[in-house]
Amino acid sequence: MSSTPFGKNINFPITLAPMVGLSHISFRLMLREYLPKKAETLWPTEMLNSRKIPKQDLATNPLSLKGPDETNMAPQILGNEEKPIKDSLKCLELWGANSIDINMGCPVKKALRHNYGVALMGDVKYARSVVEMTVKNTKLPVSVKLRAGFQNDLEFLKKFVLEMQDGGVSWLTLHPRLAIEKRRGRADWSQITFVKNQLSIPVIGNGDVQTSDDAFRMLELTGCDMVMVGRALTARPWLLWQVAEKLGYEAPTLFKGRKAPCTPEEEAQEYGRSLLRLVELTQKYFELRPGLLRLKYYIKVSHVWLNFGHSFNTQVLAAKTFEELRNIITQFFQKSSLAMTQKTNLRE
Ligand SMILES: Cc1cc2nc3c(=O)[nH]c(=O)nc-3n(C[C@H](O)[C@H](O)[C@H](O)COP(=O)(O)O)c2cc1C
Repeated sequence: MSSTPFGKNINFPITLAPMVGLSHISFRLMLREYLPKKAETLWPTEMLNSRKIPKQDLATNPLSLKGPDETNMAPQILGNEEKPIKDSLKCLELWGANSIDINMGCPVKKALRHNYGVALMGDVKYARSVVEMTVKNTKLPVSVKLRAGFQNDLEFLKKFVLEMQDGGVSWLTLHPRLAIEKRRGRADWSQITFVKNQLSIPVIGNGDVQTSDDAFRMLELTGCDMVMVGRALTARPWLLWQVAEKLGYEAPTLFKGRKAPCTPEEEAQEYGRSLLRLVELTQKYFELRPGLLRLKYYIKVSHVWLNFGHSFNTQVLAAKTFEELRNIITQFFQKSSLAMTQKTNLRE
């Protein structure tokens, strides 16, 4: 396979976003079933704290659990001190990482208090020093994922991304929302174009992609090298298949000979099917409590694309076992009037 800007195997232009509570093994494995065999992309983990990684067993920790066939892993770390970062990199290399992503976008109070996450964007030199201490301590490619920062200041953004590039990152992901916007409001894609035009390294665009058309539009409008999708992939995991179909790939192995779901009714039925598969995988990899927590959170984020989704989510909250949850899903998706909307206001 030929070499691409993201490594020698990567040939597919859509990647999953790192999301706390969502980008775990069972979701990744379910999503991979919608990707044709020959399509290869980067795969994130949930955010991993570099102060904790060296003390954990990454092979069994729920945040870093990974399947034997999971390749192209790009775990995301949170950190700002050299020793824990260095020790974490050693652990992640042994674990099987293909690249390392540094979080510069997390806006929660705890990250701000510890001066990492989006706090790194408050000081260009400081952020660069974190990149340099990471690059210096690993042979793997290092990337950063950042936001528009604290204010809509393009001069600052330009300076910031150039420092990231000079500091040695191999690519950069931009989620063009301000820290105070968290995940609401519109992502300003023109900033992705702006950043792409400043840099020679590849840029991944992120924010508000809900359909395969959105993904192609982002690629075309911004010139970015890859599109990262978060929340919409929880509702529409077959978006990977829809994109692959338009790019001329064969159907994923599990769906051999079939066309990707495309009508609102077909999509609703596939959403139900994907949830049952997710329950199965979650039951395989997680204990009851953390497993149900993850499944309920997943449905809280994804149900908004489904008509009657609110009523579905309320029923799901009552489930106390995997079996109960399976029954709720099976019964709910027997309704004949279910349909998925293309777009929704992204809230969660
Ligand atoms: C529940 C949730 C958790 C998230 N956690 C992280 C995280 O740990 N690291 C990170 O860089 N971004 C995180 N994000 C942001 C996403 O990676 C992404 O930038 C954001 O959701 C915008 O993409 P979307 O519009 O496709 O969802 C999170 C988003 C959500 C919804």
